[in-house]
Amino acid sequence: MKKNFLVIGNPIDHSLSPKLHNYWIKKYKIDAVYEKKLLNNNEIEGIISNIREEKIHGLNVTVPFKKTVIPFLDDLSEEAKISQSVNTIYKNDNKVIGDNTDIEGFKLSLEETEQEIKNKKALILGAGGVVPSIIIALKKMQTGKIFLSNRTELKAIEIKKKFPEIEIIKWGDTLDFDIIINATSIGLKKENKININYQQISKDKFFYDVIYNPSETNFLKNAKKYGGIIKNGKMMFIYQAQKAFFIWHKVVPEVDNETINLLDV
Ligand code: ATR
Repeated sequence: MKKNFLVIGNPIDHSLSPKLHNYWIKKYKIDAVYEKKLLNNNEIEGIISNIREEKIHGLNVTVPFKKTVIPFLDDLSEEAKISQSVNTIYKNDNKVIGDNTDIEGFKLSLEETEQEIKNKKALILGAGGVVPSIIIALKKMQTGKIFLSNRTELKAIEIKKKFPEIEIIKWGDTLDFDIIINATSIGLKKENKININYQQISKDKFFYDVIYNPSETNFLKNAKKYGGIIKNGKMMFIYQAQKAFFIWHKVVPEVDNETINLLDV
C-alpha cells in the first residue's frame, strides 16, 4: 500500500521538501508519495488524527506550526521536548510522536565546514522558531559562549528563560564573535539587509545563514567581501530531511552532489 507523507506549513509554496523526499523515495524504490499542504491553525488537530488512523504516515512541519502541533501529540523525542519544536511526526507503538531533526541538521552542516566551534563565541541573530534548535546544537558542540540578539528583545528574553546560560545583546550591537548565525528572515527578499559594520569585523570570522534561497543573502555577500568564511542553510535543510527520511523509511538516503544540486533553484 502506498504510504502518504506531507509537509505542512503556512505559507508552503516555497517548500523544497517534496522535491527532495520524492527524489529519495524513487531512488530507494519505496512505495510512497510526499506532498505539501497549506494549513490553517484549526486544521492541525485533524491532520494529526490522520496519522493516528494511518491515512497519513508521516508529517514534516514547518513555519509557523513547529510549536502549535505539540499539544496534539502523544509523545515527544528528547530533542523536541527541550527545543519545544517539532518538525517530524510519525506513529510508533500506537502513539503519535513528534521529533526534531533540525538540531541534527544544523549540527551536521556545521561539522562538515570543519570550522572550530568548541570553546568559541557564537552570536545568533533572531529569536524565531528555529533558534532553540540552533542553541541546542551549539551546546552539543561545546560552544564556549552563546550570545543572542533580536529586534524584539522580549522574544530573546523568552528564549533565555529556557537557556539561562546565553547572553542577550542589544539589536544592532556586535561583539567580538567567532561565528555569527543569521536566524532571522532578513535576506529572504534579495533587497533585505542586516545592519552590521562588516569593516569592523576582523577577517576569517565564520558567517552562517539559515536561509538557503537566495543562496547568498546580503549578509553572506558582505561577509565574503570583507574576508569572512560563509555557509548557507542548504546542508542544514538536506540533513534534517535525511534524518526524517530515516525515521520513516529506515533508510539513510545518500547525500551526494546530485541530491545537493536538486535544490538549486
Ligand atoms: P518563526 O516563525 O520561525 O518563529 P519569526 O517569528 O517570523 O519566525 O522570526 C523571524 C525572525 O526574524 C525574528 O527574530 C524577527 O525579529 P522580531 O522578533 O523582532 O520580529 C526577525 N526579523 C524579521 N524581519 C526583521 C527585520 N526587518 N529586522 C529585524 N529582525 C527581523
